[in-house]
Amino acid sequence: MKILIPSSKEDFQRYYELRWKILRRPWNQPLGSERNELDDTSYHVMVCEKDRIPLGIGRLHFNNTREAQIRYMAVDDGYQQKGAGSIIVNALEKYAKEKGAHYIILNARENAVPFYIKNGYEVIEKSYLLFDDIQHYKMKKLLKDI
Ligand SMILES: CC(C)(COP(=O)(O)OP(=O)(O)OC[C@H]1O[C@@H](n2cnc3c(N)ncnc32)[C@H](O)[C@@H]1OP(=O)(O)O)[C@@H](O)C(=O)NCCC(=O)NCCS
Repeated sequence: MKILIPSSKEDFQRYYELRWKILRRPWNQPLGSERNELDDTSYHVMVCEKDRIPLGIGRLHFNNTREAQIRYMAVDDGYQQKGAGSIIVNALEKYAKEKGAHYIILNARENAVPFYIKNGYEVIEKSYLLFDDIQHYKMKKLLKDI
């Protein structure tokens, strides 16, 4: 598995398709609902096995100079629990640290909380409910030790 930065139109098409497929389609959300206004200025990575077909993706943006946030982490069905998610988180953390962030926050879906704990995040508080269904938890990791 290798980590790549999506750059071409085709890369981003596949990138957003995977985001929609894993994070939106199961809740009957329309195409387009997977994107938000910070995508154009965020840092994106994808994990690929061969060529430039993503099997896992993730995004990082800055809320201020010290605080970075991870969003839209998704690994394709059949590839989960094989290390791709951790590769993505590590790449996003490395970038955040290089750019001067002190810590990362995120809102984890309940099912993903154990994954983020394995990656060194701690739960701060219960946050929002998405689509009247998916409970989220705000989590945080300090970057000084990585
Ligand atoms: C959550 C997600 C991004 C994690 O990526 P992944 O590639 O499956 O995770 P990894 O294989 O890198 O897992 C790293 C560690 O976390 C553990 N882990 C991952 N998902 C877990 C889960 N649901 N429950 C318990 N442990 C989990 C793994 O067992 C592994 O532990 P190990 O190092 O002891 O073997 C991925 O499973 C996914 O896309 N899920 C569906 C969409 C989703 O919920 N996205 C997150 C939105 S906040």
